[in-house]
Amino acid sequence: MSKYRDSIKKYFYCFILGPFFMVLEACGEFILPFLNVNIINKGAATGDVDYIIKNGLLMLLVALGMMITGVLGAHFAVKGSAHLAADVRQKTFVQIQKFSFANIDDFSTGSLITRITNDITQIQTFAQTLLRGVFRSPVMLIGAICMSFALNPSLAIIICIVVPILAIAIACIIRVASPRYTLMQKQIDALNNNINETITNEYVIKSFVREEHEKKKFGFINEELLEKSTRALKMMILLQPLSALAINVTTLAVVWIAGKQIMIGSMELGTLTAFITYLTQVLTALDFLANIFLQGTRAAASDRRISEVLHADIDLHDRNASMKEKEIEKGDIIFHNVSFRYFKKNTDWVLENISLHICAGETVGIVGSTGSGKTTLVSMIPRLYDADEGCVSVDGVDVKELSLQNLRESVAVVLQKNTLFSGTIAENLRWGKEDATDEELVWACKIAQADEFVSRFPDGYETELEQGGSNLSGGQRQRLCIARALLKRPHILILDDSTSAVDTATDARIRKAFLEELKGMTKIIIAQRINSVKEADKIIVMDDGKVAGCGTHAELIKSCVPYQEIYYSQTDKEGADE
Ligand SMILES: Nc1ncnc2c1ncn2[C@@H]1O[C@H](COP(=O)(O)OP(=O)(O)OP(=O)(O)O)[C@@H](O)[C@H]1O
Ligand SMILES: [Mg+2]
Repeated sequence: MSKYRDSIKKYFYCFILGPFFMVLEACGEFILPFLNVNIINKGAATGDVDYIIKNGLLMLLVALGMMITGVLGAHFAVKGSAHLAADVRQKTFVQIQKFSFANIDDFSTGSLITRITNDITQIQTFAQTLLRGVFRSPVMLIGAICMSFALNPSLAIIICIVVPILAIAIACIIRVASPRYTLMQKQIDALNNNINETITNEYVIKSFVREEHEKKKFGFINEELLEKSTRALKMMILLQPLSALAINVTTLAVVWIAGKQIMIGSMELGTLTAFITYLTQVLTALDFLANIFLQGTRAAASDRRISEVLHADIDLHDRNASMKEKEIEKGDIIFHNVSFRYFKKNTDWVLENISLHICAGETVGIVGSTGSGKTTLVSMIPRLYDADEGCVSVDGVDVKELSLQNLRESVAVVLQKNTLFSGTIAENLRWGKEDATDEELVWACKIAQADEFVSRFPDGYETELEQGGSNLSGGQRQRLCIARALLKRPHILILDDSTSAVDTATDARIRKAFLEELKGMTKIIIAQRINSVKEADKIIVMDDGKVAGCGTHAELIKSCVPYQEIYYSQTDKEGADE
């Protein structure tokens, strides 16, 4: 509940005025039939036109009052619930921003999207229904029962028999429907996961002509959702005919009994009309209360799912860091017996007992077969993941003791799967440094060999990029990602296979510019092509999560078998390229 406290406090007036106006409106519901009785029993029976007009005008006034209070009640209910939902949505989003990759892997992207959209909408719908009916329905229920007792106690007994029977039937429906809703929500997660994956990777799907397969896969998940939502909604829909049946049967019983009373003259026609109206009100109120309960159970399931996000144990934080003030000045990195695995239940390590020293200002290459742990190794430096054993230190301090902000400001990573955002090129580059001048943008782009192609665009740095930078080529995107990282002027720059889509000549120019312009910066370059790292001060060879060798090209080519294998497998092709 704590997640709602702030917005309830802030919009307290909505949470008071909404139900208040709805109760006022309900009062009108009792007065109208009462006036109607008078018109029929007194006015019409005696032919007193003045009396009829007077009471008719009064009814009109009450109806107008009901309209105004109804509109006001709905206005505050909508406002209160919408703000409540917006605040929780914001809180959830802020929490997700704090998540580590491991947290995101745990929840899955699709599930997080469902929680922040669909689940919060459930809460909003429930809050709105609650504000409209929480007092109105009980007031209507009790009020209408009292009024019917006042009109005719013997008939009112019928209502007292029907209400508990209907209430039990409704409770049974809710009991069955509630777990079905939870299953439906889980299936929406699966659907969102699938949509997220297919739409973001439409390009790959098309290039592998996998549309049919994806259609089938989506169809299957969609069918499952159809089945689960039908099962849940079928129960919910039962409510409507059930209360209609209750109303009709009870009306029949009332008319049957009242008919006899009217015939012997112990009851007037107007009383019967009003009685039937009160009866309808009782059952409608009961229906509304059932709706509140049903939506409540759905909202409770959604509330649990949102709480799971808000209370998730963020495994990567700097709350206990002892050197939060320390800023990185050099960029000296030491791996000390580091071991790591993604799934803590697994016995095999992804990185096993790694010890390394990367001196400040060095250019270090990392090579190794695919899946050997290169990306995992470098993600330990800016703490995208934490080592399970051993420690990584930067400038002599364990990375866990530094503030995450200071650490990540000093380490720029161009991830293997990097992306750009919609907006102009300049806006994208300024992710690296918000207040970067135009000259700085050009400086970074010149080093990353991006300035040349950006300048050729008619709008230059103001060229609009589409989502994910999809209107650029792979190599152009990679170069902009490098420039964006350079603008941070980090002490440590990590390029994870960041020139894989760039031709070898441009790659060589980037390396040359790095050497000339980025002196003093520690540069870690993961590459598939040995030529990209051949001139590095040091090359680390990864093999199956372990360091198979570390040294210069000349040293490794003599002594490191895995390095020799990679090198000789590439020499013919690379030689031709160069
Ligand atoms: N997010 C993840 N969750 C679980 N396992 C992962 C994850 N990322 C990588 N792995 C596994 O860890 C191992 C090392 O992966 P890593 O990405 O570090 O390899 P790599 O050397 O960078 O490969 P490549 O050259 O293909 O980029 C692989 O077996 C991979 O399946
Ligand atoms: Mg990798």
